[in-house]
Amino acid sequence: MIKINENYKKLQASYLFSDIAKRVSSFQEANPDKDIIRLGIGDVTRALPEACVKAFHAAVDEMAADATFHGYGPEQGYDFLRQAIAEGDYQSRGCNIATDEVFVSDGAKCDSGNFQEIFADDVRVAIPDPVYPVYVDTNVMAGRTGAAENGRYTGLTYLDGTKANGFIPALPTEPVDLIYLCFPNNPTGATATKAQLKQWVDYAKQNKALILFDAAYEAFVQDPDLPRSIFEIEGAREVAVEFRSFSKNAGFTGTRCAYTVVPKDCTAYTEAGEPVSIHELWNRRHTTKFNSVSYPVQKAAAAVYTAEGQAQVAELVAYYMKNAKYIREQIENLGYDCIGGENSPYIWIDAKGDSWDFFDTLLNNAGVVCTPGAGFGKCGEGYIRISAFNSFENVQQAMERVKASL
Ligand code: MLT
Repeated sequence: MIKINENYKKLQASYLFSDIAKRVSSFQEANPDKDIIRLGIGDVTRALPEACVKAFHAAVDEMAADATFHGYGPEQGYDFLRQAIAEGDYQSRGCNIATDEVFVSDGAKCDSGNFQEIFADDVRVAIPDPVYPVYVDTNVMAGRTGAAENGRYTGLTYLDGTKANGFIPALPTEPVDLIYLCFPNNPTGATATKAQLKQWVDYAKQNKALILFDAAYEAFVQDPDLPRSIFEIEGAREVAVEFRSFSKNAGFTGTRCAYTVVPKDCTAYTEAGEPVSIHELWNRRHTTKFNSVSYPVQKAAAAVYTAEGQAQVAELVAYYMKNAKYIREQIENLGYDCIGGENSPYIWIDAKGDSWDFFDTLLNNAGVVCTPGAGFGKCGEGYIRISAFNSFENVQQAMERVKASL
């Protein structure tokens, strides 16, 4: 008899964004004439940068001739892309990251979900709340938790993000081994200073813990004093892994390309306490389970690092940040407290009530889709998230409708 992984039964019936998509499509079926503006899932709407499109086309042409065709590439990604990343995103900013510490992949969602696989079943996991649900669900699937009780899984250490702490959780009061952090934060848009990240790096060093740092939204940081990478923090090479993506900066949500940086100084331990290289473990896992990203997609991603690509990505980011600023201003004018939207494409709004009710009000009365904060954890209850990824015209229209419906 084929038996299931019983841990899956602990999960909620469906993934947050699938759940929202279902609600929105049943609303659309019931109201076929209603125009819906989607400011829910953080999915980009603008075309790929021209530099990427050109490189993509040229690479497809290479695939069309025997002499220039590419079959399987290196599982970790082509050196042309790994090197462009190491130089363009790290070395140029003073971070000591080498080409072979970059692992190209098809998404930060997959990488941040998969990374926990290389650690023991009984590592103690710290998860911020509110949080991108992938970190929690993948640890549930792996059996690191008990059942859900009052919206939280037993066995996890939750790090509360609240209005009082500006949604920057404090260090855990109980020992933990694996720590998930995301800045600029999804969903709250909160950003951490270098001094705040330093506390986490110091904690991880003292406790032989590892930080999984999700920097998928780093391109949206506007304040030059804020860190864009955990590797800007002294000592982080020993205790942190970083996830990054081309999805939000260069519009690759449908094209798929991302990467994970695993420094060779990161160490985990055997049951007997012997040190093991996390880089070697991840390389072993990655080469076994993954065949990298297609050659044309990697060529398109590498074009992000050309002068033309950099200018076009900056223009895309500025476009969405104009939306973010506008949303925040409009929502604040309506008398709602917000954070985010300044160094992040997400605006986190105190809904002054139940977050699913607020979601329904916006959908039913304004035809605007947001994301209910409760879907990101217990501390998200009472909030909603609005994404700046849409056209400015749609954002303006959405805000007019929101104004009229509240
Ligand atoms: C979000 O809306 O939180 C993100 O788009 C999810 C993702 O990037 O997977």
